[in-house]
Amino acid sequence: MKRSLIDIVDLSTQELDELIACAKDIMAHPEKYSEICHGKKLATLFFEPSTRTRMSFEAAMYELGGNVISMSSAASSSAAKGESVADTARVISCYADIIAMRHPKEGAALVAANNASVPVINAGDGGHCHPTQTLADLLTIDIQKGRFSGLTVGLCGDLKFGRTVHSLINALSRYEDVRFVLISPEELRLPDYVKTDVLEARGIAYEETADLEGAMPSLDILYMTRVQKERFFNEEDYLRLKDSYILTPAKLAGAKKDLAILHPLPRVNEISVAVDDDPRACYFKQVLCGKFMREALIIKLLKEAGTI
Ligand code: NCD
Repeated sequence: MKRSLIDIVDLSTQELDELIACAKDIMAHPEKYSEICHGKKLATLFFEPSTRTRMSFEAAMYELGGNVISMSSAASSSAAKGESVADTARVISCYADIIAMRHPKEGAALVAANNASVPVINAGDGGHCHPTQTLADLLTIDIQKGRFSGLTVGLCGDLKFGRTVHSLINALSRYEDVRFVLISPEELRLPDYVKTDVLEARGIAYEETADLEGAMPSLDILYMTRVQKERFFNEEDYLRLKDSYILTPAKLAGAKKDLAILHPLPRVNEISVAVDDDPRACYFKQVLCGKFMREALIIKLLKEAGTI
C-alpha cells in the first residue's frame, strides 16, 4: 500500500527505532544496499530554496542504486504557469516511483500526497513541519547519547517559524522523561498549537526563557536554529531579531562536557565558527546522518508500496 511521510507523527515510535537501526546498518554496510533501488526513480520537487535537503535526498537515492529526476526551482516549473500542487503531484506520479517535495505553504505536501499515486515525502512545508530533518536529528542524538529518554533538550532561536523544531518536539516528546527548555525572544516563542497539543497534552516538562547562558548548565542537547527570514512579514522585525542568539566558545563555559550541539543548517550567525572545532559540535555529523536516514526512509516507503 502507498504510504507517505507528511508529519513525523505519521511514524510510530517503533518505526522511528527501526529507521534508526536501518540507517546504522546502511552506514556500516553500504554495499548491502547499493542496488536495492536499481531502476527506480526519485523526483525532487523543491518550490523553495534548499541545498542540503534536496542534495541529501538525491545522494541517498544514488547510493541505493536509484536515479533522480528533479525540479529545482518553482520559477522554472509549471507552477510559474499556475499549475496546482495537486496536478503537479498527479503528473510526477507518472514519471517517478517516489516524490520528495518542499513547498512554502503549510499543508502543500499533504495535498500532493492525496493526489499522487506514489509515496510523497514532505521535505518541509512552510513553517509547519520537516519530518526528515527530525529523522536526521534523532539519529545524531542516538549516536551521541545512545538514548532519548531522560534528556534535557534546549531549543534556541526561532521557535515560532522553525519547522524543524516543531517536528523534533513532536518526536522527542514520545520518549520518557524528556524535558525541553525553550530559549527564544518573546516574539519567536513556540506556537501555542505545539505547546498545548503536544507538550501540555502529553504532560511534558518544559520551561520558556530568553536566557541561553542561564539555561546552558542543565542541557544535554542544544539545538540552535536560524531566524527564518523568509517567514517574516517585515524586514525591520527580522533585522531586530536575527542576532538574538550567537553561540560562542565563551557562552559554552557553563555547559556540560558531553553536551551535543545541533543545528539543522544553514547557519547564518547563530553559531560562531570558533565553536566548530569543539568536540561537542555535531552539526556537520548531523548532515551525514540525514543522508542515511533518508536512505532508510526511501527503502521503507518503496517496500511498503511494493515497488522494491
Ligand atoms: C531547515 C529548513 O529548511 O527548515 N533547513 C534544512 O532543511 N536543513 C532549517 C532552516 O532553513 O533554517
